[in-house]
Amino acid sequence: MSRLFLGIESSCDDTAAAIVRRTEEGHGEILSNIVASQTTLHAAFGGVVPEIAARAHVEKLDVSVEQALSEAGVGFDDLDGIAVTSGPGLIGGVLSGVMFAKGLSAATGLPLIGVNHLAGHALTPRLTDGISYPYLMLLVSGGHCQFLIVKGAEDYKRLGGTIDDAPGEAFDKTARLLGLPQPGGPAVQAEALKGDAKAFRFPRPLLDRAGCDMSFSGLKTALLRTRDSVVSAKGGLTATDRADLCAGFQQAVSDVLVEKSRRAFAEYLALDPQTPVFAVAGGVSANTQIRTALQQLCTEEGLQFLAPPLALCTDNAAMIAWAGLERFSAGGLDDLSLSARPRWPLDTQSPALLGSGKKGAKA
Ligand code: KG4
Ligand code: ZN
Repeated sequence: MSRLFLGIESSCDDTAAAIVRRTEEGHGEILSNIVASQTTLHAAFGGVVPEIAARAHVEKLDVSVEQALSEAGVGFDDLDGIAVTSGPGLIGGVLSGVMFAKGLSAATGLPLIGVNHLAGHALTPRLTDGISYPYLMLLVSGGHCQFLIVKGAEDYKRLGGTIDDAPGEAFDKTARLLGLPQPGGPAVQAEALKGDAKAFRFPRPLLDRAGCDMSFSGLKTALLRTRDSVVSAKGGLTATDRADLCAGFQQAVSDVLVEKSRRAFAEYLALDPQTPVFAVAGGVSANTQIRTALQQLCTEEGLQFLAPPLALCTDNAAMIAWAGLERFSAGGLDDLSLSARPRWPLDTQSPALLGSGKKGAKA
């Protein structure tokens, strides 16, 4: 059955609203996808300030939804439901979105569906490419880093993840330590292009440990130490030093992700999927070196590599609308008792990962 959903996302520093249709045949169509970024509000603080984020969401939610409806050329009467991120994330922001969606649902009588933000990311390849279950997913962003086997809209197996920081946080910290602008990923990538990845040696944490768990906080510390030793030896950093540090750091992150992906492939392929697919999402998957390395690995190991368009890899509400549609179609439904959850693992069977990201809860 064809269905039309409004999606609302406010779990970190983007206020987003989108209208998505699921066609009779089950294909996804994005009618509008509005993202109001808060980057400038947080710029002076060197990270997302939860209080500022929550207030900004409250200010932007209604205009974002209005804009999403008008760009899509639809009204509340045309909708079949409202999907909202109800966790995990910064609790103030999640609460703002949940309260707002509840208000809309109460006023319009439309069904309300709470969505796990990570499910939004994990189900995006079905929205963009209509792939079937089970597929392997790497979520790699400023707040998340985990391998998931996606078996169904509410059926996930986590193979491993970061036990401390997410790679995006490490990119952002690296940029700060080297005086580069935020967000750090694109800035470090641009510098790395000019550098020599072998000039400085960085660790590859947890490669000696079996399984798919990862760690990136030691890499940040290694970068700080290396920077300080160059500064104390030479009295400062040259442009070449900065580029070499970025190249070495990026190479280390890429090597860790490639090796852990290889291990995740083995576990996934043991399920004997008909068409093996490895999908990536999250801001760090925009990194050209990492993307190319993972693509190469897929070619070697016989998996299809899938990277949704960047606007759908980073935080957005189209993925929330889609995940809501999938949940609703599978019989999922919430009511006005829906609550905001700061922590909410997709795979409730696997033991919790350690650590908590600056940008929100890891799950
Ligand atoms: O998925 P995202 O937009 O937000 C969440 O964290 O949920 O990811 C943002 C993160 C930031 O840490 C940013 O530095 C990183 O993704 N990022 C990159 C690149 N573009 C964005 N990291 C490495 N290389 C990039 N090209
Ligand atoms: Zn996200």
